[in-house]
Amino acid sequence: MPIAKMPRYKEFHHLIRDRLPEEKVSHCIFVAEYAASLSDAAGVDHDDAVTAGMLHDLCRTVPGDDLLKQARHYGLNPSEAALEAPLLLHGPVAAEECRRDLDINSTSVYEAIYWHTTGRPDLDRLGQLLFLADFSEPTRRFPEAAQARALVRNKGFDAALLFVAEKKLVFQKSKAVLDPNLQAFLWWLQKS
Ligand SMILES: [Fe+2]
Ligand SMILES: [Fe+2]
Repeated sequence: MPIAKMPRYKEFHHLIRDRLPEEKVSHCIFVAEYAASLSDAAGVDHDDAVTAGMLHDLCRTVPGDDLLKQARHYGLNPSEAALEAPLLLHGPVAAEECRRDLDINSTSVYEAIYWHTTGRPDLDRLGQLLFLADFSEPTRRFPEAAQARALVRNKGFDAALLFVAEKKLVFQKSKAVLDPNLQAFLWWLQKS
């Protein structure tokens, strides 16, 4: 089903166009498209996949200090990693905003947006789908994105998800701050 048929598509599209630069709007739409195309295979609701994809980076351009302030205002307890790298909070703050201001009441959508950067053990199928689609939507230029899409086609969703978590951990290890949730998510996927 085309993602524009999702009942709140126009509203969310206006919102992200107001808040994000063009290339990030495009990324969000491609994440929504790619996640929607895999929603049946992942066993998740199509409209939830579109919603999570469109809104996951709603706070991606909010400066780190403001993210920290917002997170505290919402009663979130920033982790040590987030205190060092507040941009890690763009998912949690967006999840809160979706619930409080946009009246999105699905816990699954909340969790998917909250954890889209790192994942976490026990993350549900929608969260797993968003994590995968964010990394590997078709306009991502790094070669691992194309490899992940090929894995989805040839070996299925779970094999591709494991690959994405492994590659994200490699990417994150090259950065100054490593969020322990990503390592925990990968171990959990390897065990399940
Ligand atoms: Fe993000
Ligand atoms: Fe993203």
